[in-house]
Amino acid sequence: MNDEAITKRSDYRPPRWLVPRIELVFDLGVDSAEVAATLQLERAAGGDEPLRLDGEGLELLELKLDGTTLDSSQYQLDATGLTVNGARDGSVLETRVRIHPRANTALEGLYLAGSADTGFLLTQCEAEGFRHITFFPDHPDVLSRYTVTLRADRARFPVLLAGGNPDGHGEADDGRHWARFVDPWPRPSYLFALVAGDLHHIDRDFVTAEGRSVAVKLWAEPEAIARCQYAFEALLRAMRWDEQTYGRCYDLDVFHVVATDAFNMGAMENKGLNIFNAKYLLADPDSSTDEDFHRVESVIGHEYFHNWSGNRVTCRDWFQLSLKEGFTVFREQSFAAAMDSPALQRIEDVRRLRRAQFSEDAGPLAHPVRPDAYREINNFYTSTVYEKGAEVVRMLARRLGPAAFRRGTDLYFSRHDGQAVTIEDFVRALGDANELDLGAYLAWYGQAGTPRVRVHAEHDAASQRLTLQLSQHTPPTPGQPDKAPLPIPIDMALFTPAGGRLPLHVEGEARPRNGDGVVELRAARQDVVLLGVAERPVLSLLRGFSAPVILEFDDADADLGVLLRHEPDGFNRWQASQRLAQRAFAAAMAGATDNRALTVWCDTLAAVCDESGDTDPALLAELLAVPDAVELGATLEVLDPPAVHAARTSLLQALALRIGAQALASRYQALQEAELGEFHPAARGRRRLKRSLLGLLAHADGEQAFGLAAAQFKAASSMSDQLAALALLVHFDAPQAQQALADYRHSYNVNMLALDKWFAVQATRPAAAALEQVEALMEDPAFELRNPNRVQSLLGSFAHANPLGFHRADGAGYRFVARQLTALDALNPQTAARIATCFNAWKRLEPGRRALAREALAELAARPENSRGVNEIVQRTLE
Ligand code: TRP
Ligand code: ZN
Repeated sequence: MNDEAITKRSDYRPPRWLVPRIELVFDLGVDSAEVAATLQLERAAGGDEPLRLDGEGLELLELKLDGTTLDSSQYQLDATGLTVNGARDGSVLETRVRIHPRANTALEGLYLAGSADTGFLLTQCEAEGFRHITFFPDHPDVLSRYTVTLRADRARFPVLLAGGNPDGHGEADDGRHWARFVDPWPRPSYLFALVAGDLHHIDRDFVTAEGRSVAVKLWAEPEAIARCQYAFEALLRAMRWDEQTYGRCYDLDVFHVVATDAFNMGAMENKGLNIFNAKYLLADPDSSTDEDFHRVESVIGHEYFHNWSGNRVTCRDWFQLSLKEGFTVFREQSFAAAMDSPALQRIEDVRRLRRAQFSEDAGPLAHPVRPDAYREINNFYTSTVYEKGAEVVRMLARRLGPAAFRRGTDLYFSRHDGQAVTIEDFVRALGDANELDLGAYLAWYGQAGTPRVRVHAEHDAASQRLTLQLSQHTPPTPGQPDKAPLPIPIDMALFTPAGGRLPLHVEGEARPRNGDGVVELRAARQDVVLLGVAERPVLSLLRGFSAPVILEFDDADADLGVLLRHEPDGFNRWQASQRLAQRAFAAAMAGATDNRALTVWCDTLAAVCDESGDTDPALLAELLAVPDAVELGATLEVLDPPAVHAARTSLLQALALRIGAQALASRYQALQEAELGEFHPAARGRRRLKRSLLGLLAHADGEQAFGLAAAQFKAASSMSDQLAALALLVHFDAPQAQQALADYRHSYNVNMLALDKWFAVQATRPAAAALEQVEALMEDPAFELRNPNRVQSLLGSFAHANPLGFHRADGAGYRFVARQLTALDALNPQTAARIATCFNAWKRLEPGRRALAREALAELAARPENSRGVNEIVQRTLE
């Protein structure tokens, strides 16, 4: 890898030039736009370097310093920016540039969403998009006060929006109009945003706890505005929750949220003007599943919460990205838990972490929550920075407890308001507010890889002592051969074999604890002695997933069965089921004839099902789930995807037969008869259970399950029911599948988000032949390589969530994805680079597939026209 292209954390230098104020004037058009910028410059104390501004792909029309036009001897323009000679402290620099929104397929900077006639203009600046709009020191530690004026044709662009408070609007010549916005809060350039086009809105006033009246407006294209209502309610809930939970109030007179179908990621927290991928904003009963509604609520919370964790207090440099993202994901997860079920939320979050982050941490792209180097920063918006980062904040919050954590975040927000800070600043504020040193937790930010915590328990009846021998080990990751021990909080509880709770008395502590049972493992090995344990107990470890680690505990299968039945912590009940399933899977892979874990798992779940009046249906649905193939595959040294699939299927078959087709079907039918298509949590939980039962039934009695699914598909009163039925028919290759696909295609012909589900269902069919289907679907008129949602649904799902298709024995899956990536990279490098991470596990593949994957990767790596982003992923994957 070429060394100059690498940005290193250790190379950080404070900015030499500051821009306390910036004024921007946009003359907007679809094909071209002019941007005039006036920068008030301030030289950092002691500096003497010439002014350097970032700028890429800008056509420079005019350049003035302190009112005088510069000639070409007074500045140097190159591919990445502009150097200006003669600027002084207090100088004013004026630039005027031309850019081309319609030609911008990368969706970074200013671009057109939709058609030239009816689409609208919008921006995406994080991380380094602002330099595609104007010349500026485009780094998050340069904070400015923005004044923005937009001018455009009134008929074509009736709505003009930018971040900040409105500061006038009016008519101009030739049917044009203008609008101005002033943001009183200093902010970095990555939070700049504008929107211009024919958008409709819904609005309501929100009065903050501080008494500020805020006009909240959600915007979407005319045909989509009716689907914004749910997000609106969720947004108001999030605004209230942040006031009540963190004491954070909104701080402008207006808050705009805009939906677009053309967006690279989920959503963006631009100050006062959040922009959303329509997928995470639009929701209606006819085309959104229960999970979609839930995601909308989470994402709208996430972006809103950034107003404090990210915008008012921002990142010093992009290595600190988790400062805002990890903390904000944690805030989002807490909000979602408070709005619904904490246990189910935790299950969902941990499942995502295990599936995406653990596999990232175990492969060639592993990196710390705070990376040390990057070539393309867009490649570091990862599960590690987001989800593992959130886990680290969760450990800190748990360590402090709610009141102390709140003192800590209060101090963090007040101490660093208006600043660009580091992860150390965050951890220090949490500690300082409580006169504690939390510095040991910083190691979690610096060390990549998932720690393995091994536990061995010895019970001594005579002394009534239970000795826990704890040890931790983190395997090497690229560039980090040796790992240090980390502080690992292990939340635990003791039960009797009948499921009764025992007190937890840790040796060295004055008295037994009744609630909180956290023991902190700090060293590589450590013994913890529990006192007053008369009989060998059942130990429940890592309750609530108190640390992002892999637990290796040699407890008896029967003990896990006890937890699966009786553990009051719903999360650890689920974890007991997952651990039993993992053991059963390992035994199946090893060809065991007597699969004891499988027996315990099946027997216990059958019993739980029988007495399931006691178990929340949504939780029961989770208990009946097997980890997905990607997660199961991650535990293997040599990966053979069809073998993983077969072993996983054998688990589901065993469970289905143990519960019995009869019991599954009658339970399903009772729920189905009571189905009213309602959306409250209990109704959603029952639908989830229905889906599990029908899925299991398909393994016990396919014909019956297909019949029921086809009927459910036809009669569905919700998208959840309809999509679940469709997925079942397609994934089992049922005779009714083709008809259902055709019907679905027909009824959602113009609903792109619903068609994305149709693409994804087919792309994830667990079969080698899914490849041919995906190839055919690329020709579907609804598919568009330019649209990231379409691409993620079809190519992304296939590459990341279809092990049998992608890892086809003949290598055709690898070659197909590599070929599509080269086409996509030319249009949208960010999206291409995200999909390119699908080769992540190639080194563990069995030799035949490994050679084929390597070949496809090497071919991809050799292409000189690759974007920086794709190159970085492919090269790091190959290394
Ligand atoms: N900051 C955004 C978030 O909170 C994510 C983001 C980063 C993003 N880069 C982006 C969104 C590019 C869209 C496009 O999650
Ligand atoms: Zn975020």
